[in-house]
Amino acid sequence: MEDNQEKPHAILMPCPLQGHIIPFVHLAINLASKGFTITFINTEFTHYRITKATTSANNQEYYDIFTEARTQFGFDIRYRIVSDGFPLVFDRAVNREQFLKGMLYIFSAHVDDLVGKLEQNTKPKITCLLADTFYVWPSMVAKKYNLVNISFWTEPALDFSLYYHWDLLKINGHFGYYDNREDTRKYIPGVEAIEPKDLPSYLQDTQTTTMNKMIYKGYENVKEADFIICNTIQELEPKPISALNEKQPFYSIGPIFLLNGFTNISIPTSLWSESDCTQWLQPKPHGSVLYVSFGSVAHCSKKDIIEIAHGLLLSKVSFIWVLRNDIVSSDDDDDILPVGFEDEIRDKGLIVPWCCQISVISNPTVGGFLTHCGWNSVLESIWYSVPMLCYPIFTDQITNRKLVVDDWKVGLNFCDKKEIRRDEVSEKINRLMSGKSATDLRNNIKQVKKTLQDAVSTIGSSERNFNKFIGDVKAKIS
Ligand code: UDX
Repeated sequence: MEDNQEKPHAILMPCPLQGHIIPFVHLAINLASKGFTITFINTEFTHYRITKATTSANNQEYYDIFTEARTQFGFDIRYRIVSDGFPLVFDRAVNREQFLKGMLYIFSAHVDDLVGKLEQNTKPKITCLLADTFYVWPSMVAKKYNLVNISFWTEPALDFSLYYHWDLLKINGHFGYYDNREDTRKYIPGVEAIEPKDLPSYLQDTQTTTMNKMIYKGYENVKEADFIICNTIQELEPKPISALNEKQPFYSIGPIFLLNGFTNISIPTSLWSESDCTQWLQPKPHGSVLYVSFGSVAHCSKKDIIEIAHGLLLSKVSFIWVLRNDIVSSDDDDDILPVGFEDEIRDKGLIVPWCCQISVISNPTVGGFLTHCGWNSVLESIWYSVPMLCYPIFTDQITNRKLVVDDWKVGLNFCDKKEIRRDEVSEKINRLMSGKSATDLRNNIKQVKKTLQDAVSTIGSSERNFNKFIGDVKAKIS
């Protein structure tokens, strides 16, 4: 008991999105392995979705995603849920605006209430709040309960820098105006130059929306954080990271899914049931399959899906295509693929609503990834040496494309023109999968992978930064 009292105890809270829940779970495991007690909080709706997708348990209410990690490693990770302010039956996608307003104005009261209860009854005493940078309330909650305030940014440092200096963009007439200036932005600390087209979509908005208001408030909030950790790699983004470090303690600790070798713990995080693709992949030749996925939140138009489908057929390349059932936004009809497409592809293609992405892209038969450039997908693709065809749709994906294609040269642009056309889709797929361009990409990606490998080695930058972060947090608590 005495010992227990000494242990740091952190509350971890990701945004309720697939691409945020996964890195937070990895973070929880890593912190627990360093002696932290963790209370991991998902929203009730996220919990409901994970449970529905990953278990047939009757007592879903009591299902605990960390059971295996506790039994296998003896980690002290506790699991709680919090209401996001809406009932489970509320359609968060259809009523997106109302939901975002709830996240902006109502959600903090539920978090405050839960943290207050945990504060009173929990041993060891809660010492840290570790929340997603997108949240607008962490500094308020941390101050109220006297907790060390740690922000976790699950995307690249470049995106962080751009959002962090939102005020500079505004002062320079580069953000939030009907006629945003079109010239290169050259004044963001740590960012030599960035074109307007490469800014995250929310920084290209010409008017105020609930979403960009939320990010703006989140970034006001993060300026009060005691520590910021980021799922990136120092050697890949040295300039933004060192500029940010001059403002606040900023630690690059990525890729978090590789840190300390905890890749193989099976913790249920998936919001959809996963289809097994292993059998289908098994007879395919090495490096011959294209994996296509646009992540968990992006939507496409039916028109684009149809062009991509025809492009896939024209390319003659084998493919697995993850087509979520909500990939096309609600005002388009249900039947999104060209008539007869599924008959025509026969054994050439497999369409699934969701899969275990890591197990697909780590399969040696996969040789390319047509991706929306979500940051987790980018890191996973680099790790498994799978070059990317970049089709960014919104948010940080736009800026991530610049890193992948222009800076690291491990991917190609999907479409050079605004409009997606089947012949260009087919041509780009072939350039990704074979010939000199494919060889160059494969050579480049091996080098970038090596950077990741070095960063997470025992003497690597991410490992060192993580240990320094732990030491600094412990010093702040004591
Ligand atoms: C969101 C944003 O869209 C993205 O821009 C941001 O960088 C992170 O948050 P998401 O769209 O879900 O993320 O994309 P991504 O970051 O790639 O994360 C998706 C995660 O889900 C990955 O870890 C991937 O392995 C997993 N996944 C995806 C699956 O397990 N199965 C699938 O079928 C698709």
